[in-house]
Amino acid sequence: MSKTMKRPTTRKSSTRKTAARAMSQESDAKSMLQEFLVDELKDIYWAEKHLTKALPKMAKAASSEELREAFENHLSQTEEHVSRLEQVFEILGMKPMAKKCDAMAGLVEEGKSIIEDTEDGTATRDVGLIMAAQKVEHYEIATYGGLAQLAKTLGLTEIKDILGQTLSEEKETDELLTEIAENHVNVEAAGEDE
Ligand SMILES: [Fe+2]
Ligand SMILES: [Fe+2]
Repeated sequence: MSKTMKRPTTRKSSTRKTAARAMSQESDAKSMLQEFLVDELKDIYWAEKHLTKALPKMAKAASSEELREAFENHLSQTEEHVSRLEQVFEILGMKPMAKKCDAMAGLVEEGKSIIEDTEDGTATRDVGLIMAAQKVEHYEIATYGGLAQLAKTLGLTEIKDILGQTLSEEKETDELLTEIAENHVNVEAAGEDE
């Protein structure tokens, strides 16, 4: 009798153990995913800070007023992107940390070599600058798109919204650069002699 009495108790506790194990596995997976999110945040934080130094150089190198203005406006936005990321770190209860983003370092290097390889004051230089800048924007769009989705999966709604705001601005900038290239710069550059 005592054995049969014990049996359900044992079964219950083992059911509880299985449930607890499943829950802890789920929270482990969640924390691994959150760790990945934090790692990616450090990467884009470095990238955005790096861009606040690169964009003034690109603005200075631009030949057309329109393109210079676009770079200057995006510099102010980029400064905002940096502080939004600081906000995200704060929500996660962390100090902002940057981790070198090799991809962004490479894209900025590419922009620098375009400036070196093209002549000052030419539309051809602007074509190159727009292409380099759009590669940067596409990297940012991919990153913020992925991060916003990840935050949503983790139930971090506030963070998802903050990252989504930046994502919209990166997309707008990309579209604006396409417009400048299509409507003005590319046409002018096509008429430039060597
Ligand atoms: Fe940005
Ligand atoms: Fe950007």
